[in-house]
Amino acid sequence: MIEQINETKSYIEQQLNDFKPDIGLILGSGLGILADEIENPTTIAYKEIPHFPTSTVSGHKGQLVIGNLQGKNVIAMQGRFHYYEGYEMNQVTFPVRVMKALGVEKLVVTNAAGGINESFNPGDLMIINDHINMMGDNPLIGPNDDDLGPRFPDMSQAYNRELIQLAKQCGEDLNLELREGVYVGNTGPTYETGSEVKMLRTLGGDAVGMSTVPEVIVANHAGIDVLGISCISNMAAGILDQPLSHDEVIETTEKVREDFIKLVRHVVEKMN
Ligand code: 6GU
Repeated sequence: MIEQINETKSYIEQQLNDFKPDIGLILGSGLGILADEIENPTTIAYKEIPHFPTSTVSGHKGQLVIGNLQGKNVIAMQGRFHYYEGYEMNQVTFPVRVMKALGVEKLVVTNAAGGINESFNPGDLMIINDHINMMGDNPLIGPNDDDLGPRFPDMSQAYNRELIQLAKQCGEDLNLELREGVYVGNTGPTYETGSEVKMLRTLGGDAVGMSTVPEVIVANHAGIDVLGISCISNMAAGILDQPLSHDEVIETTEKVREDFIKLVRHVVEKMN
């Protein structure tokens, strides 16, 4: 894998003439527009990047945007690779490996998620303070490359405490009411049944989605500090008496976009 990482790294570096990204952003469903606000951008379509898979889901653009945000050097994924699309865990998390190789030390991972916590409302922003991996898979299964990280990575602080504090402070600065809680990662592509949502609530989940967990595992393996933010786009099944639709997810994220962008901008500005 190291050869592939290095080839991809070199390819990207060739387009950057000595610009070095410090902060990675993975932008979830409907949240990719933040990448359009990156200044002096270099954009590279995934399909042009050696060893990158290509993204298929609607609402996802499928490109890297590298440049400045609030005076910081960032590299953003506008659209991510999902396990439910049929990609291997290795492929889903490959961009995180490449970010690390390019020098990224901090990663902001975002997603649209269903609310499990009954006190949540669609449109809430939730700082992820932990996750539960329900994907029945793990991107680190297989031989371990000790140059990339340890065989048995600690996950007791998978979401960096200081970054959680920073995000909370940013919420206060901006007068945004932020939620905090546990993200459950399911494979999808089905949404949950009402009974599954009940189970996940019993297990301690506050929100549920179909991404993020693989990338966060690999970021931890690589020693990258992670901040996770979920946009609660809808309540999960069985909480409200209404069916779920991908259109609703997109619609709500459009409404919270502004707050989401404000928050991430401010967090990026305050990161050091
Ligand atoms: Cl309710 N479930 C899952 N798995 N992912 C989601 C969601 C629900 N809402 C947005 N993404």
